[in-house]
Amino acid sequence: MKATLGQIGIGLFLLVVVVVFAGMHDFSGMQAASPPRTGWAGALGVGWVAMSVLLTRGKRDAITKDVVSVAPMPDMMLVIHASQTGFASELAARTAELLRSGSVTVELRDIAALTPAMLAHATRALFVVSTTGEGDAPDNATAFRRAAMNSPQALHGLAYGVLALGDRDYEDFCAFGHDLEHWLHASGAVPLFDLVEVDNGDEGALRHWQHHVAQLSGVTTQPDWSRPAYQPWRLLERRLLNRGSMGGPCFHLALAPEDATLLSWQAGDIVEIGPRHASGEPVTLPHREYSIASVPADGALHLVVRQMRAVDGTLGLGSGWLTEYAAVGALIDVRVRRNEGFHAPIDDRPAIFVGNGTGIAGLRALIKARMARGHTRNWLVFGERHAQADRVHVDELERWHDLGGIERLDLVWSRQPGGSRYVQDRLRAMADEVRSYVAEGASIYVCGSLAGMAPGVDAALRNILGESLVDELAATGRYRRDVY
Ligand SMILES: Cc1cc2nc3c(=O)[nH]c(=O)nc-3n(C[C@H](O)[C@H](O)[C@H](O)COP(=O)(O)OP(=O)(O)OC[C@H]3O[C@@H](n4cnc5c(N)ncnc54)[C@H](O)[C@@H]3O)c2cc1C
Ligand SMILES: Cc1cc2nc3c(=O)[nH]c(=O)nc-3n(C[C@H](O)[C@H](O)[C@H](O)COP(=O)(O)O)c2cc1C
Repeated sequence: MKATLGQIGIGLFLLVVVVVFAGMHDFSGMQAASPPRTGWAGALGVGWVAMSVLLTRGKRDAITKDVVSVAPMPDMMLVIHASQTGFASELAARTAELLRSGSVTVELRDIAALTPAMLAHATRALFVVSTTGEGDAPDNATAFRRAAMNSPQALHGLAYGVLALGDRDYEDFCAFGHDLEHWLHASGAVPLFDLVEVDNGDEGALRHWQHHVAQLSGVTTQPDWSRPAYQPWRLLERRLLNRGSMGGPCFHLALAPEDATLLSWQAGDIVEIGPRHASGEPVTLPHREYSIASVPADGALHLVVRQMRAVDGTLGLGSGWLTEYAAVGALIDVRVRRNEGFHAPIDDRPAIFVGNGTGIAGLRALIKARMARGHTRNWLVFGERHAQADRVHVDELERWHDLGGIERLDLVWSRQPGGSRYVQDRLRAMADEVRSYVAEGASIYVCGSLAGMAPGVDAALRNILGESLVDELAATGRYRRDVY
């Protein structure tokens, strides 16, 4: 939206007023967490916000009021991230870095650690948020959404920007980003610029956001952000894990980097692979994500990949490349992505791991990491179809159980008579044990299917533990999910 000359005039007038006003007052006491800032730099910050507010949305009646009330921490910027699989967190960190390179004071915060009161005291906030599930907020935002976003708050002094990550293949594109923006708007906050939607990591949209952030930081000569380059990793091994299964073939893969220094990640991290067609010719195709199933001490990156086929028999792009077209010994394009939200607890409090199918990948890495640290209070509830055909790494899990690395192992076979049908049924049947693990400080990790399993487990946990405890576990990092 273009500003009228009148609006620019008002903006310049306000700029002069706040410069004089800031020179006479110390605003810093209003936000104890940040260093005192007064005088020209701060006042210019306020003036800048005043101008931005005017330039971005001329239509608001309360502009003058908004501009005056942004005074408390003129140059401080909150950068808030809500992320399910780590990309939003990564972009928020880059955003913070770019702002700091322009000497902006930044506070980078997980949305789980954000309260409405903090926002009410802030003058500027950038939100980097993804959408997960079917138009849902990431898990770390659930508590904030329930506690704060139910109704408008008084955020009249806040100017904000929203980077909404999503994927147009989903019906509710960037739904959480939009919900957040509606709520901010209803709460009286004003946008610094229009919400930026990012479809599947689109670099053009990221450039657009980077441009806005560069304007805020005053540093405009930044190289474009792009995803890290793929590195060549050699496919060392491919082994079918479920011979005779009614389900799609599921493979164990092992890959080693050409550059041995890349053998570095944490359990819970994800890889992005660059698929190729059957010919193996390098082409630019959308990446696919897989949960890492090993730890660096294994000397290789392990994956558990289900081969996908369309009804016409066509192989899925990523799974087809990894499980059929790429020859053992071939080089695969790989980049590791940090997924902080799914890292193992650092202490030896108990942990409950719940998953199904290829979800064993992420759980296997986490349990390996825990066992390596001597943290053996691990309870695994794992579901597949048949005890004979679908033993995806189950022999190994049973060995770890026998050796005491897994304290408790519950295997749930959905296509066999007797016992629980699904992992969520087993949790309900073990409600007392779930409650006592959680009372002892257990974290809960869920990995695997978004369809059926993850919502079923969530409902079971809410039934067993109560809504507010589950929300609290999510907000404090004790309920973590890698579901797809
Ligand atoms: C965080 C995360 C972790 C993941 N971890 C794992 C993991 O550990 N293991 C794992 O196996 N997967 C994992 N996935 C899923 C994985 O990323 C891919 O989505 C999966 O391998 C399917 O991708 P694809 O390219 O093979 O299939 P795509 O080509 O994307 O096809 C997907 C589906 O669409 C159907 N389809 C494809 N083409 C057509 C067509 N022309 N017409 C009709 N239907 C069609 C196929 O049947 C297929 O089922 C994870 C996903 C995420 C987000
Ligand atoms: C299981 C799953 C569900 C998703 N659901 C949606 C959705 O409903 N709407 C949408 O726009 N994007 C959806 N996405 C796409 C993500 O928002 C997108 O990949 C984003 O970059 C992830 O960021 P994050 O790693 O910070 O969570 C989904 C992605 C996954 C893996």
